[in-house]
Amino acid sequence: MGPAAAAADSVPSVVPGAGPVGRPGERATVRLRDDEPDEPPRYAPEWLHLRESADATARARDLLDPLRIGLADLPGRTGALAVHDLGCGTGSMGRWLAPRLDGAQHWILHDRDPYLLHFAAVASPRSAADGSRVTVETRRGDVARLTPDALSGASLVTASALLDVLTREEIVALADACTGAGCPALLTLSVAGRVELTPHDPLDAEIAEAFNAHQRRADLLGPDAVTVAREAFAARGASVRVHPSPWHLGPEQAALTEQWLRGWVGAAVEQRPDLAELAARYLRDRLAASSAGELRVVVHHSDLLALPRPTDGAS
Ligand SMILES: C[S@@+](CC[C@H](N)C(=O)[O-])C[C@H]1O[C@@H](n2cnc3c(N)ncnc32)[C@H](O)[C@@H]1O
Repeated sequence: MGPAAAAADSVPSVVPGAGPVGRPGERATVRLRDDEPDEPPRYAPEWLHLRESADATARARDLLDPLRIGLADLPGRTGALAVHDLGCGTGSMGRWLAPRLDGAQHWILHDRDPYLLHFAAVASPRSAADGSRVTVETRRGDVARLTPDALSGASLVTASALLDVLTREEIVALADACTGAGCPALLTLSVAGRVELTPHDPLDAEIAEAFNAHQRRADLLGPDAVTVAREAFAARGASVRVHPSPWHLGPEQAALTEQWLRGWVGAAVEQRPDLAELAARYLRDRLAASSAGELRVVVHHSDLLALPRPTDGAS
């Protein structure tokens, strides 16, 4: 058993796949089951379900009005909004956003995991803010290879908790595809690399640093993803806004806090096996404080909205 598994095993009942732990050298942030070694990571629907309400509370509502204006300004728009949700998982972005936008919408849900696409289709939103119809279709594939053609006719591209598991090349390709399609992009809940735990523990900073290093392994961007995306979209003429979207976890989110802690500490130990013993003590203490209602955690994220450059004659 590796050190990460040992740290996570020190306290039982992990939701399968929760937490950013994978095999060394693997791109996994969350494992679902024992895939073939070169298969991409799988995300447990239980984990995505657990985080959905914290995500919904965290999302930057200040970006909604600029987004609505951007959608209203789209040149030549007729019919339903075509919304591409990249790395949709079980579809939490659509369940949050579709009922906040007016007008008929057709969501195209992209993911490489057919199991998650099935959940997303079954639990898809049905109506928009004004009661208009919302329909969905699913597309299985690698969103890091999307071309502007794949987004042809798109009114909006969304993603949630995706950017930080991409590489620089993949984010640049995504910015190319979105700006090539001339539509807004709302890319939410990317990790910012900052975590605040109350009460403080002397090991907090070291675990955080090891976790961030783990996120940056194998050329993944982790906490640098939003900066790279901001620059890539701006370099292609888009107007970009970034707003904070932190999780605030307290006694009412104890189940999420527990799974997040296991994953956070597990990844740190995978990155720094020398921390295993101290981290096992740390994890036990943090889990005990969480179940006693004595732990508060702020996990910082960022939401990014990129609006395309107005076409000639547009205001
Ligand atoms: C952290 S989950 C987020 C899921 C969902 N957006 C949410 O917020 O609950 C990341 C999702 O992106 C998908 N994903 C990651 N990289 C991908 C890629 N290159 N192509 C397609 N899907 C990908 C995963 O399968 C997973 O469903």
